Amino acid sequence: MIVSRLRLANLPTPLQCVPRLGEQLGIDLWVKRDDATGGPEAGNKIRKLEYLLADALDREADMVITCGGVQSNHARATATLAARLGLRSLLFLRDTCLSDDDEGRGIPVRRTARSLDGNLLVDCMVGAEVRLITAASYRRRHELMEAAAEGARRLGARPYVIPEGGSNGLGALGYVTAMREVRQQLDEVSDPPFDLIVHACGSGGTSAGIALGAGLYGVADASWSMAVCDDEPTFEKRIEEIMVEARQLDSELGQPCAWSVDASAKGPAYARSSSEQRDRIIEVARLSGLILDPVYTGKALDGLWRHCASGRLQDKRVLFIHTGGLPGLLAQATVMDENLRQENDE
Ligand SMILES: Cc1ncc(COP(=O)(O)O)c(C=O)c1O
Repeated sequence: MIVSRLRLANLPTPLQCVPRLGEQLGIDLWVKRDDATGGPEAGNKIRKLEYLLADALDREADMVITCGGVQSNHARATATLAARLGLRSLLFLRDTCLSDDDEGRGIPVRRTARSLDGNLLVDCMVGAEVRLITAASYRRRHELMEAAAEGARRLGARPYVIPEGGSNGLGALGYVTAMREVRQQLDEVSDPPFDLIVHACGSGGTSAGIALGAGLYGVADASWSMAVCDDEPTFEKRIEEIMVEARQLDSELGQPCAWSVDASAKGPAYARSSSEQRDRIIEVARLSGLILDPVYTGKALDGLWRHCASGRLQDKRVLFIHTGGLPGLLAQATVMDENLRQENDE
């Protein structure tokens, strides 16, 4: 099957050695800088959207509908790229500040008192129609998005629905392609493959693509998905399903590399980090110049750090995928501020 792809990201992203942080962790640490895939649309999602939006255009869509948390990086990347391609975008964003009375088809963000910051600010700047929904409504997100698509069709629009995180078989191909890119980068300098890849996992598509691509291109022996929400069995099932879908689209895809999900660093809740995790984000910044976020990449690196501290990864060659998330960090400036001030008081 021929699968279309749009060239939207700045590729290849750098593959960088981070010696001071690696030394601290006792490993040979490399970072794939997917935080540099673009400008305001940067992060891991643009790789998936190269496939998803190509499909949308092939189907002559003039509007995209997707969903996520109120600070969703995926929603921001989708809305930004939609603006670039001249498509309308409708975002259903889960807002835990809403009460049960707000249950329904979503409240336009401009009718709420919510401050526009981080990803949400970008969503609004690029003209996305943002509807905030309760956590209970979010559980019915498929239904809500389908109903919105049906309503839009009745008004003459041609909507294309993208699942949470862009995580389906088609989106996952973006990370198969990313692994091919890493293979080429290794070959250029005759470097050996990695022992392990570590990355954040929020909806499973990145994990599925990495495991399949690392297997296909011999990039690494194993891949660890550090879950930032949900438990291991939930993600294992989801990632398996996405892999099945991806194989139906690309017959070259065979066995993934060894892969596992680890929920030990997910912290207090989705989008909430522990003070220790935030201190670690600051420490990483000082040892490497890498800016991680408290929702995804900071938790993934925290998980890697703990495994390194136990000594089980001593001297291993590890690739950390920096999947972006800077706007999410900026939206949590107040919590980060507390950690930075405490430090100055000491
Ligand atoms: C910055 C960042 N890193 C990692 C992830 C996880 O990717 P996935 O949703 O494909 O599991 C996401 C999105 O959920 C993200 O926004």
